[in-house]
Amino acid sequence: MSGLVIIGTQWGDEGKGKIVDIISREAQVVARYQGGNNAGHTVVDGDKKYILHLIPSGILHENCLCFIGNGVVVDPEALEKEILEMESVGFASVRDRLKIADGAHLVLPYHRLLDAAQEKLRGKGKIGTTGRGIGCTYGDKATRLGLRLGDLRYPDLVRQKIRAMADFYEPMFQNVYHEPLPSAEAMAEEVLKVADLVVPMLVDGVTWINEQVDAGKRILIEGAQGVLLDIDHGTYPYVTSSNPSTGGVCTGLGLSPKKVGRVMGVTKAYTTRVGEGPFPTEFEAKFGEKIRTIGAEFGATTGRPRRCGWFDAVAVRRSVLVGGMDEIVLTKIDVLDQLETVKIAVAYRIEGKELSVFPSYLNADTPVEVVYEEMPGWQAPVGDCMTYEQLPLNARRYIERIEELLKVPVSVVSVGADRNGTIIRKASFF
Ligand code: GDP
Ligand code: IMO
Ligand code: MG
Repeated sequence: MSGLVIIGTQWGDEGKGKIVDIISREAQVVARYQGGNNAGHTVVDGDKKYILHLIPSGILHENCLCFIGNGVVVDPEALEKEILEMESVGFASVRDRLKIADGAHLVLPYHRLLDAAQEKLRGKGKIGTTGRGIGCTYGDKATRLGLRLGDLRYPDLVRQKIRAMADFYEPMFQNVYHEPLPSAEAMAEEVLKVADLVVPMLVDGVTWINEQVDAGKRILIEGAQGVLLDIDHGTYPYVTSSNPSTGGVCTGLGLSPKKVGRVMGVTKAYTTRVGEGPFPTEFEAKFGEKIRTIGAEFGATTGRPRRCGWFDAVAVRRSVLVGGMDEIVLTKIDVLDQLETVKIAVAYRIEGKELSVFPSYLNADTPVEVVYEEMPGWQAPVGDCMTYEQLPLNARRYIERIEELLKVPVSVVSVGADRNGTIIRKASFF
């Protein structure tokens, strides 16, 4: 079994990019299976910082081939920009090391415009999307109106399909959203501009990834978002439109579950969320502001301030159930360094019932009473700790309590944004 899956266990931004980058030193292929450029995965290497949106974070390692599976939605303009940006800072072989499934769907200008128009119409009930047109692209995929990257091989087909889309969208924009729309012809030409760059990278995704697995390569599978944003298992409707959970790996890459190996869940030592939706352990405004500042909690894609709260074992237990985590990577523990006490949510009380696992149905208006455990803080900087034993006792107690509550071992502790700030409690990842 050569696949190692990295998924977020909360509402995204757990630090997946940093961990994928570290494990990429040992990997041969790094694959994305869902999401699109709504993701923002940060890698910090000394004074250099990279934010990857579509390209897997393994691209920083010349030993890695990178793969974008059929379950990803690809904005061709964003992809071009990211490839050019990475090449301009010295990663010369990006386009040679990147393979893209020809079945992946294209994000078109319609989708971005529709995303914005729908959010505007939702008003107070908005989802708080990243505005990248992700949900609308998956919507067209489901209604079978979408274009796939393989279509870029046939310019006339692209023109014809975008024309057919225009017949669908023009009346909607005119009569429902009252927003202007560029002409179908202009959009088609815009999209076709990237064909020369993208077409040489296209492969039959299922064949390609299975060949890599069958050749015994070490495959790292990089999730975007997090289980609580999963369209099936997250806090619907305040979710993204794909399956970040482990199940998404099989459909998003075309890989049998028999070929998917271990699952690592990346978990922040507290909780954050961008956009709307329930967040039972959210801090009150002033304390939230303090942690946001210490943790630099601003979206890597949109720059929006992230909402912050206590670690929520009730929520992460749900992710562990859905995702089948074998181990946990606990990140950003350094952000809690100064606190006198730290709290962990261990249960919810909802409508008179006590729950230890986040419910599958939670009306955003339903009051949730959170049952917390409070522990003494460590009030010492952990950033320079190189081994688990060097961590202050109370920090270790906090980590061990999280292991107990989740019934999953913490195999990596991240104590800083930089690659070096990582305590690895195992000999190898594969
Ligand atoms: P992702 O979407 O899961 O890859 O996470 P993001 O990159 O969106 O957000 C995580 C942020 O936390 C980034 O700015 C990282 O550089 C930073 N980060 C990751 N791990 C640590 C850590 O252990 N400590 C601190 N202070 N920052 C971290
Ligand atoms: P990474 O991979 C955090 C959130 C948005 C919004 C909801 C729907 O960096 O962890 P969408 O644009 O997907 O339709 O927005 O999902 N969201 C994320 N939040 N991290 C992400 O990705 C996210 N991708 C989407 O803020 O609440
Ligand atoms: Mg992010």
